[in-house]
Amino acid sequence: MSSLAGRQVLVGVTGGIAAYKTPELVRRLREAGAEVRVIMSAGAEAFITPLTLQAVSGHRVRSDLLDPEAEAGMGHIELARWADDILVAPATAHVIARLAHGLADDLLATLVLASEARLWLAPAMNRVMWDAAAVRDNAARLAERGVRLLGPGSGSQACGEEGQGRMLEPAELVAALSAVGAEGPLAGRRFVVTAGPTHEPLDPVRFIGNRSSGRMGFAVVAALAEAGADVDLVAGPSTLATPPGVRRVDVRTAIEMREAVMARIAGADGFVGVAAVADYRPAEVAGDKIKKSDSALRVELVPNPDILAEVAALAERPALVVGFAAETRDIEAAARGKLEAKGLDLIAANQVGDDRGFEQADNALEIYAADRHWSLPARPKPELARELVAIIAERMPLREQHSQ
Ligand code: PMT
Repeated sequence: MSSLAGRQVLVGVTGGIAAYKTPELVRRLREAGAEVRVIMSAGAEAFITPLTLQAVSGHRVRSDLLDPEAEAGMGHIELARWADDILVAPATAHVIARLAHGLADDLLATLVLASEARLWLAPAMNRVMWDAAAVRDNAARLAERGVRLLGPGSGSQACGEEGQGRMLEPAELVAALSAVGAEGPLAGRRFVVTAGPTHEPLDPVRFIGNRSSGRMGFAVVAALAEAGADVDLVAGPSTLATPPGVRRVDVRTAIEMREAVMARIAGADGFVGVAAVADYRPAEVAGDKIKKSDSALRVELVPNPDILAEVAALAERPALVVGFAAETRDIEAAARGKLEAKGLDLIAANQVGDDRGFEQADNALEIYAADRHWSLPARPKPELARELVAIIAERMPLREQHSQ
């Protein structure tokens, strides 16, 4: 059965040319088992008629906040409560700005504020607009608040230009919504995952970093989402695309990563630390570019906080805390040492160096718990991540049943 079966999805259509794709989107959502209602902004009606969307959704389409007839049926607050998911597609630069600033000046913006539903945005606009600092800031602000951005994709645009700004195809949007809340073994569980490297600045143009690409961490995130988990990804600098349905926050340094993790960890069921967090950072960051000279440059390094150990030591820690260990030798002893020293439930160790582990498409993992060992030989990181997630699901403690 599709994970969309029985889900109540409110599709908000705003005024962009990609609105012509929304009848197919609604049809596909319904085919996947969702119940769909549609609301339109005034601008959307310039691109597509309410009658079309009424025909494909099977319900009257609403566009006016102050519509006495509609309010007499399902009022806007009831509609806000009704929705499990609100998908704004296409999401124009204008609606992204209004939502980022919490305006309540039309039906869609008001519903979003009045709803506890998952909020998804499928941006669609000209590539230069999508690159504009104001749009990027608004989108980042929404992502920070847990809004899920789907795309935009790249390709030829209605305006004749080529680049990033196309709304994702209806099938891709439906797949993204399906990936969350699936009936997988981790449905109903929330995970926080770190991935990628950290960059520790030396001066305005230089940093100390490492070779992590984020491939392993992003694969773990995708596998957790596929298994039905709700995932917050805290990513160090990486150019990889966010797996569908995942909330992502980008950070640079270990200190920023720690802050982002701690802001999201309360109530999480699991934490997986895949990031290659720099163990040290420069004690001082030069305000200006350090000038070349003939004498040696000495840099004092101070230890960074250990995010994984801090999460495992929280009074209300996630039920399962999983670390990674990047080792060049004595893998088992080093990994078991970290498992115990950091108070972890599982540790996934990989051999690094000599073109292994970092950056590669394939990896191999030795996974240790206090009472067990699993050996996963070399294979593509996404496959490996699925096997690790199967082990995580198996080890996840059952929720306590509260008696009345
Ligand atoms: O990103 P890729 O190119 O795909 O490469 C993948 C990988 C090799 C980076 C990945 O598989 C991996 O091994 N990640 C962990 C790297 C690492 O920092 O290992 P560590 O042994 O130094 O740290 C042990 C654990 O403590 C890790 O879970 C790490 O996230 C965590 N840690 C470390 C230091 C610190 N200050 N805070 C932490 O949370």
